[in-house]
Amino acid sequence: MQLDVVTLFPQWFDWFRGQHHVAKALEAGHELRALDLREHTPLSGGQVDDTPFGGGAGMVLRVDVMDHALQAFYATDPVELCKERRVIALTPGGRMLDDGLVDELAAEPAVTLLCGRYEGFDERIVQHFCSDAVSIGRYVIAGGELAAMVLCDAVLRKLPGALGHAQSATEESFSAALGGDPEYPHYTRPAEYRGWAIPDVLLSGHHEEIRRWRRARSRERGAAEA
Ligand SMILES: C[S@@+](CC[C@H](N)C(=O)[O-])C[C@H]1O[C@@H](n2cnc3c(N)ncnc32)[C@H](O)[C@@H]1O
Repeated sequence: MQLDVVTLFPQWFDWFRGQHHVAKALEAGHELRALDLREHTPLSGGQVDDTPFGGGAGMVLRVDVMDHALQAFYATDPVELCKERRVIALTPGGRMLDDGLVDELAAEPAVTLLCGRYEGFDERIVQHFCSDAVSIGRYVIAGGELAAMVLCDAVLRKLPGALGHAQSATEESFSAALGGDPEYPHYTRPAEYRGWAIPDVLLSGHHEEIRRWRRARSRERGAAEA
């Protein structure tokens, strides 16, 4: 899979690329590119943003700058590009990122993420250059880079080769294997600490009972969330 991130801060992704599971995914043949939005601006002095029409605080990322950058990266009109591959604007008001959307994206051959900054995107970027708008939660962070890392992390760990145990990514919170419920609790040694003993069933060696116990705890957590 090819994951591209269009950002004003491509160097942020150097650290991300070095993290163990990301590095493993890249070694396995997946690709993560950080593309510098400022590199292709047609405006002088590296300008990428401008004041909002109608007034108000902050600066808005310009549609002509994004157009030039995407044309330069992909040698195609971004209006067409977003029909050929998922191009995602990261924005607080977008579709909420969840396990279902992560699965959907992990099945794509190529995804491009656009990181906003300042007040965000000129809306025409989202309308005309993007197939999706995605949010990582109902709060606002300073820029799309961390949101892109969250999304890339969640997607990459679903791909073959990223995790030591393939099963780690299949039976997890919100996965189909757990019926969309949060994961059951885990325990490790010592079996008793400060008087806090782990549930007996986990020491029973009875796999079917353990499976049933875990599924029940998972369902309880799901019901508590509803
Ligand atoms: C300071 S935010 C802009 C917030 C915008 N003015 C608003 O109120 O919705 C700058 C950029 O950070 C990114 N961002 C901030 N919060 C986000 C979230 N919850 N999910 C995804 N991206 C987010 C987006 O790319 C956004 O364009």
